[in-house]
Parts: sequence; C-alpha cells; structure tokens
Amino acid sequence: MSKSICLFNHKGGVSKTTTAFNLGWSLAEAGKRVLMIDLDSQCNLTGLVMGYIAIDDDAMINFYNNRNNLTMQPIVRSLIDGHSVSRIVSSDGNLLRTQKENLFCLPGHLDVSDLDAQISVSLKIAQGVPATRNIPGNLPGVLKNIADNHNMDYVIYDLSPNVGGLNEVILMSSDYFIVLTSPDYYCLQAIGSLEKNIRKWKREICRFREDNDFTSDAYFIRNAPKFLGAIQQRYRPRNERPAVAFQRWIDIIGREINEKFVPSLSDIDCVISSDDLRDVLIGSELHPYDLAHVPDFNSLIAISQQVSKPVFALSDDDIAQIGNVGGITKENMIGNRDKFRGIFEALAQRVIALTA
Ligand SMILES: Nc1ncnc2c1ncn2[C@@H]1O[C@H](COP(=O)(O)OP(=O)(O)OP(=O)(O)O)[C@@H](O)[C@H]1O
Ligand SMILES: [Mg+2]
Repeated sequence: MSKSICLFNHKGGVSKTTTAFNLGWSLAEAGKRVLMIDLDSQCNLTGLVMGYIAIDDDAMINFYNNRNNLTMQPIVRSLIDGHSVSRIVSSDGNLLRTQKENLFCLPGHLDVSDLDAQISVSLKIAQGVPATRNIPGNLPGVLKNIADNHNMDYVIYDLSPNVGGLNEVILMSSDYFIVLTSPDYYCLQAIGSLEKNIRKWKREICRFREDNDFTSDAYFIRNAPKFLGAIQQRYRPRNERPAVAFQRWIDIIGREINEKFVPSLSDIDCVISSDDLRDVLIGSELHPYDLAHVPDFNSLIAISQQVSKPVFALSDDDIAQIGNVGGITKENMIGNRDKFRGIFEALAQRVIALTA
C-alpha cells in the first residue's frame, strides 16, 4: 500500500514543487517506487519533469490527446462529468517516466482548477446533491488506486499555493504532510494562518462526512494527516551556516512552529511525535520540527531546470558544459552539488524512517 505525502504551504514560491521533485528523486534513489502527482494547474512539476516540450503548446496538446500517458486531464473530466474513473485507472495509458528509475509523474492540467471549484462547492453543500457529493472522496480514491495498481511505495502531492477545496481534500486524505518555509516575514505570517486553516479543514471534513453519511473508516478522506516537519529553504549560507539575518528568521519561524503550530495540530491528532522525529535527527544539527535545511541552490538551479534533474543529480559534465564553467568555479559547484546530495539523501532516509 502506498503512503501519501503532501508538500504544502498556501504561501507561494516556497519550493513546494522543487522539493516534490527532489524528494521524489531521493526516495527513488533509496530504492522506493514513487509517484509524483501534479495537482497545481500551473503545472510546474509537469514542466520540470518534461522540460522544454512543456512550453510548446502544440506538443502538449498532442501529449494530452494521444493518451499514451495517464494525465490529470481525463481524471478531472470523468470526476466532473460523473463518469466511471475505474475505466480510466485501468486503461488510460502508462505512467509518465522520469529520468530516474522508479520515479513517475502524473502530469497536471489546466482543468484541475475546474475540479478545485467543483470540490469547493460540493464541500459547502450540506447533504450534497448525489451527483456532486461523491466528487471530493472520489479524487483521493482514484489517485490512491492508481498508485496501488502500480505498486508505488510513495505518492508525493505537489499542491498549488491556495486554500481551495482540492487542496483541502488532498491534504486531509493524505497520510502525511510537510510544510515548506522560507526565512522571511511572509512565511511567518503564513504559518499562523496555515494552522487555523488546517483546523478549519478538519472541522469541515468532519461535518461533510457526517452530513453525507460518509462515516466508514474506509472513506478516502480520512481526515487525519500527520505533520512530519518543516523544510527551511533558500537561505544564504556563510561559513557553512545560514547568514545571521536568515538565521534569525529561521529561529523565529522554528519557534512559531514548535510553540503554536505543533501544539494546535496535536490537539486534533495531526502531528507525528517529537520523540520519533528526534530519533531520526540524531547525528544532525536539526531539532524537531525541522526535517531539513536547504540553502540557496544559486546557479545550480538554472542548470538543473535545463536538464530536468535535481541539482544534486547533475553530472560534472552538466555543470561544466551547461554552466559554462571551469577551474575553481566548477570545483566549487561540484562541491556544492555533493553537499545538496547529502542533504536530500538524509531527508529521504528521515522520511522513510518516519513513515515506516
Ligand atoms: N533551495 C532553493 N534555492 C534557490 N532557488 C530555489 C530553491 N528552491 C526553489 N527555488 C526556486 O524558487 C522558485 C520557486 O520554487 P517552486 O516553484 O519550487 O516553489 P513553489 O512553492 O512550488 O511555488 P508555487 O507556490 O508557485 O507553486 C523557483 O524558481 C525555484 O527554482
Ligand atoms: Mg509549485
């Protein structure tokens, strides 16, 4: 049975998509079968995996129409039109492969925003109309079936930066979630509203299940996702540590998570235990509820996006030729790549241990 992990923050641009790709790749490197699902109608994750073809409109229309690969498009249409999704799960194309063995992608589509609107309405109507009340639970249900039919160990959801119905349903039906943060004031604000929002979602789903008699334990929106921890991204390092100004924000956000976010979510049973996290952080400088600290990728990110690989998977030649660098600059970039590889290998091992 696959385990699902959402990467979420309703604040935009905090590295949800990049980390979905990087974590997915690292879990695959560690021998797991991983399906990344792009549920953002911006389709950034799909673009990251497919590279330049994803900005060619004709090529993408052809890609969606030929149905050689399963995408979110027929899933969205079937859910909205009330058609059977089981037919799609079994017949509509192979899973899109990435350059990494055992790492697959379910590409997103612009129409995902229609589904978001539809789910938001369905959740609001008490004792929903039969035609629409099944849509919220059917979405996580069909995605779980796809993952299980393909023997996935992990499903990684890349969500959009909003608090619409689709994100509500996917987060509340997942087994786990990770919050991405960046060291700045806006992110501090976001942590506070995220906590209120998840509590609100918990109440709404509870009410939705009761109103519609979806009370079986097997119902797909289980309403008990566990917070695994936060990943701090994009700080500038100095002497191997965050520069002082960034460290202050990292500390303030860390306190907000530990003193407000975690206690509040513990009340509704949506957090893993700090002892479990402490055990997997032994040997690192991190404390609960930090899962990883990821410094700024600098120019490695630009090379990585050109070759559709994470920064830590770039070859020496990728760095030298696409980065057009040599000598000491190349050596420094290779050294940084190796540090990022260590960070993401450790992150994958922590996730595997915490979700075992
Ligand atoms: N550690 C990092 N260092 C440098 N740049 C990064 C890092 N992580 C992500 N980025 C860059 O920051 C930008 C935003 O990242 P990304 O798209 O992954 O964020 P997101 O949270 O998915 O955004 P959105 O909310 O729009 O979905 C991208 O240009 C990405 O390449
Ligand atoms: Mg994104």
